[in-house]
Order: sequence, then structure tokens, then C-alpha cells
Amino acid sequence: MTVTVYQSPEQDPAQGFEQIRDLVSDQVRMVDQLILAELSSDVLLINQIGRYIVNSGGKRLRPLLHLLAANALGYQGDHHITLAAVIEFIHTATLLHDDVVDESDLRRGQDTANAVWGNAASVLVGDYLYSTAFEMMVRLQSMRVMEVMARTTTAIAEGEVLQLLNVNNPATTEEKYLEVIWRKTAVLFSASTQLAAVVAGSGRQMEDDLASYGMHLGAAFQLIDDALDYKADPDQLGKNLGDDLAEGKPTLPLIHAMRHGSPEQAEVIRKSIEEGDREAFAEVYKIVESTDAIAYTERRAREEAGKAVEALEGVADSRFKDAMMALAEFSIQRSY
Ligand code: IPE
Ligand code: IPE
Ligand code: MG
Ligand code: MG
Repeated sequence: MTVTVYQSPEQDPAQGFEQIRDLVSDQVRMVDQLILAELSSDVLLINQIGRYIVNSGGKRLRPLLHLLAANALGYQGDHHITLAAVIEFIHTATLLHDDVVDESDLRRGQDTANAVWGNAASVLVGDYLYSTAFEMMVRLQSMRVMEVMARTTTAIAEGEVLQLLNVNNPATTEEKYLEVIWRKTAVLFSASTQLAAVVAGSGRQMEDDLASYGMHLGAAFQLIDDALDYKADPDQLGKNLGDDLAEGKPTLPLIHAMRHGSPEQAEVIRKSIEEGDREAFAEVYKIVESTDAIAYTERRAREEAGKAVEALEGVADSRFKDAMMALAEFSIQRSY
């Protein structure tokens, strides 16, 4: 199944994204206010780092998906506002930790928190955000919400550790790579949309359908992220290209290039994964290009986005559902 909403080449994916956000702009504003309100601690460094990262212009895609899904299910309460903020806090915590692990120094177009304040401060403030998220969640008094979120954060941690085990290992298969991205990225998308069915009380079948939508969309999103690490315009992306190569991460573009390149080309890629060599970027990029590895990665992402849209079949038609389908398309067309 293909999604047609924002496929026209003249349509700027960023513009489509803004239009979608406008659908729930009042709720987005409430989420932003809650995020800022919850970031106040009498430990000043927490406020400073928290505000620095939260105000730096992330897309807020996961909370947006949660809001849209809750609206698509006709939810009338306000628990979705709290949960959207919780989800963004958890996402932000993973980014603070991820940039330490990946030794990244640019995110959202500015120096990473670890580049400014160091690794220790980033890890500790990441922990603070995780804990705050759970504190906020407890206020909702829903065991099911806690259950889904606790399982999610465990899976994210497993994904990051699994990824660490694959670093510098050129024998990593596509299957193992997919296992990592399901856990480190897709499960949070999945929880974001599943939790909308939980707060709306829409039943287990709807929970499963929305979990499946989020899971496939999240996989598509990370596949594209891994392609963008090689081919994006860095100014638009707000992150450095080549961070994955510098870390020796065997992402799908490299796995495909090794499988389809000449023995000499495969050897270049193998060595650069083993050594985690940013200097090899230009040479590796040429091989990635000539083996169509980016196109293959994008094709896999498109398949996942298609499955995400299929999972919405049981959701009643509405402009919110249309927006969710359009976000599946945004996730694969995006350049940032
Ligand atoms: C970055 O996520 C981490 C990945 C899972 C690839 P986003 O691209 O959603 O980050 P922000 O919040 O918009 O900066
Ligand atoms: C996503 O992986 C990280 C998390 C899910 C925490 P990446 O390492 O590819 O994300 P970026 O590229 O740094 O945003
Ligand atoms: Mg990273
Ligand atoms: Mg990345």
C-alpha cells in the first residue's frame, strides 16, 4: 500500500509537517508549556541543560503522533497532554545519553550538551529526565500506562546495548541491525501511539493496531536516519554526517554495500567498520552510492511506512487519521 498525501515533488515535507501540527496546535502548545513547567529544579544545572536541549528545536514527532492518535480515537480528556510530554522527556533523555555514547558534538544545529557541559552532566541530566517522566506518569494512576512505558524504556536500553555489541563488527547481518532499530527507536514510537488507545480506553485490538503502526513507522524513521547520516545536507539535518561511520556502526547502507560491492569495495567497508574511521567517509560514500545502498535503505523504509499505514485500517476515517498516514510519508521523505 502506498501513501499519496505528500508525495508531490513540489510539496516540501517540512511544510506538510507544519500543516499537520496545526491540526492540534492548541494541544501542542499545552504540551510545550507542560514540558517547560516540569523542567524546573532547584539544581540550576538541571534547568540549564534541560532548557538548552528542550528549546533547541526538535521536531516533537513522537508527542505529535500521540496527540493525533488520541484525537483520531475521539479522546476528550487531558491525559494525552501529560503523556505527550512524558514521551518527549524520555526521547530527550535517550538523546542526551546517545550523544555521549556516540561521541556526537552536533545536534539540532547546535553543540550537543556533552560538548558544552561534558559527559557526566549529560548522563546525569538524562537520568533526571527519565525519572521526571516516570513521576509525571504516576500522577495518571494508570497501571496499564506504567506497564507499557516501563517495558518500552527497558527495550530502548536493550537496543542501545545490543548496538554497542555490534559496533566495529562488519559481520553484523541485516537481521541483527533490524533487531537493534526495533528496540532502540521503534518501540518508543510504538508506545507513543499505543498509549493513545490506552488513555482512550479503545481496547486491546486497537492498542495492538496502533502499536503496530508506531513500530513500523519508527523502523522507517530510523532506516531513513541511517541513510541521512550518509547523504543529508548537514545544515538541514542539524547533525554531522558520518557520525555512524566514525563510530564503526554497521548500519544498513554499509551492510548492503558490503553485500553488493566488489571484493575490494567490501574490504574497504569492512575495514572502516572495524576501525570506525571518519577519514574514510568520502571513499565509503562512493561505494555506498555505486552499490545503490541508499536507495535500498529507502526502499526498506518505504515498505515499513506502507505497513504502518496498513495497520490503521481499523481506525475510523478522520483528518487525524489522514495526518497519521501523512506522517508515515514524512518519515521517509524528510531531510531533517
Ligand atoms: C533522533 O530523533 C533520534 C533517532 C531516533 C533517529 P529525531 O529526529 O526525532 O530527533 P529530534 O527530536 O527531532 O531532534
Ligand atoms: C538513535 O540512533 C538513538 C536513539 C534511539 C536514542 P542514532 O544514534 O542514529 O540517532 P542520532 O543520529 O544520533 O540522532
Ligand atoms: Mg547517535
Ligand atoms: Mg543517526
